[in-house]
Amino acid sequence: MAYYLGIDIGTSGSRALLIDEKGAVRASASGEHTCQSPKPLWSEQAPAEWWAAVRKAVPEAVRKAGIKPEEIKGIGLSGQMHGLTLLDANNNVLRPAILWNDQRTAAECAEITQRAGGLKELLRLVSNPALTGFTAPKMLWVRKHEPKLYEQARKALLPKDYIRFLLTGEYATEVSDASGTLLLDINKRAWSAELLSKLEIDAALLPKVYESPEVSGKITAQASAALGGAVLPGTPVVGGGGDQAAGGVGAGIVQSGIASVSLGTSGVVFLHADEVKTDPEGRLHSFCHAVPGKWHMMGVCLSSGGSFQWFRNALGQPEAEAARKSGGDPYDLLVAQAAAEPAGSRGLCFLPYLTGERTPHADPYATGAYVGITPSTTKGAMGRAIIEGVCYSLRDSFEIFKALKLPVREVRVTGGGAKNPFWRQTLADVFGQGTCGLVAAEGPAYGVALLAAVGTGGFKSVEEACRATVRTCDPLAANPAHVKVYDTYYPHWQNLYRALKGNYERLAQAAR
Ligand code: XUL
Repeated sequence: MAYYLGIDIGTSGSRALLIDEKGAVRASASGEHTCQSPKPLWSEQAPAEWWAAVRKAVPEAVRKAGIKPEEIKGIGLSGQMHGLTLLDANNNVLRPAILWNDQRTAAECAEITQRAGGLKELLRLVSNPALTGFTAPKMLWVRKHEPKLYEQARKALLPKDYIRFLLTGEYATEVSDASGTLLLDINKRAWSAELLSKLEIDAALLPKVYESPEVSGKITAQASAALGGAVLPGTPVVGGGGDQAAGGVGAGIVQSGIASVSLGTSGVVFLHADEVKTDPEGRLHSFCHAVPGKWHMMGVCLSSGGSFQWFRNALGQPEAEAARKSGGDPYDLLVAQAAAEPAGSRGLCFLPYLTGERTPHADPYATGAYVGITPSTTKGAMGRAIIEGVCYSLRDSFEIFKALKLPVREVRVTGGGAKNPFWRQTLADVFGQGTCGLVAAEGPAYGVALLAAVGTGGFKSVEEACRATVRTCDPLAANPAHVKVYDTYYPHWQNLYRALKGNYERLAQAAR
């Protein structure tokens, strides 16, 4: 039997997953990371934590699977997108990685747009606007604020590509993750020499770009030893994908008309595209897909599960205590309280902009808000309003797809939130469209394990791999009564951001 290993470098942890040649999951294991926020709006992580988590997770997954290292025929890498890891001439990490949800680069985004010759020109060059989360603004920030350190930089790598370097000794990336740097010409699927020159970024800083199923290198003897021999030297490592494109493959989003919504720390609405499409207002991201010659579009709500996590941390101590005693999960207890409230949370609205927002506002200063609190507001309503607010925010992306005439006939829900039927039902009701789950809801690690199989001969194409392995389940229809309630609330909810918009930047300045 041939096995394939997917490694996903997430934000809160890394995960290793082994599948067999039919796509059945054999075992998985994970290791955690911590995030640091040394200043308001900043989000950083030590790359050494990714490597420590990989060194824990890979041997554990192989041990649990009970397979021999020589049976692993290929490895795929996925990871949190957009993060900047800078290496010096000796491959030492120069500073903590600046992550996807870091919001410090508003000035650099303005500078990039201006250097490119305006938004229209920037969209022509790289199909996306400059957003604070993307990698290029982070490079300009380091160049401006830490110039000595920038001078020492010889390579700028995305999180999973730093792990690739440690595994294979190669400086390489692939088209889907590279799209999120803002430096890739997504039409040509190659670095944009024109934008690099306008931004005065040395092309030598960037790694070689592959298609996602292409072999980008092989496990070195040193890496094999660091993983306790769990994978053998010479095992091929394919390009893989940014976590969203990889998750798209894992969910079978490799043809038009099927969208996925992933409910993780961030929430993402993801759609396959056979050709490059861009939103003229730049609200949706247009990136290369992990399927060769294809693209995808997506809208991102930065704090999706992240908003509920905040709620649990801030107000969920009693539930945490009860869960400790009963052996249950505090999230389930909080969601059960939320589900007991009526749709619309009795007029309580929540804006989920805890770490700023991308789609549709592209506003690094936006923050979370409750509007509609009364003396009778319960904790259950506060929980329900968060779930509804996140779903409204995802609907913002969904509505843009509709406005761009990109029809969606099926919505597949993935990520941690997909496991909870109430989250999934609320999403269906807010979207006014049924949703379904996935039998192997294993996310990005599963997608890149499939890409490893494609790249090493297990399947002829990504599409064939998805056809053979991805199965949907648990269809949930939208509840017409709730659809009506949410259709009524949605425009009011949308107005709240517009009403608060002018205050956010001033508040951020006051808080500095
Ligand atoms: C996608 C994005 C997030 C991160 C973290 O654009 O920023 O989904 O990849 O998961």
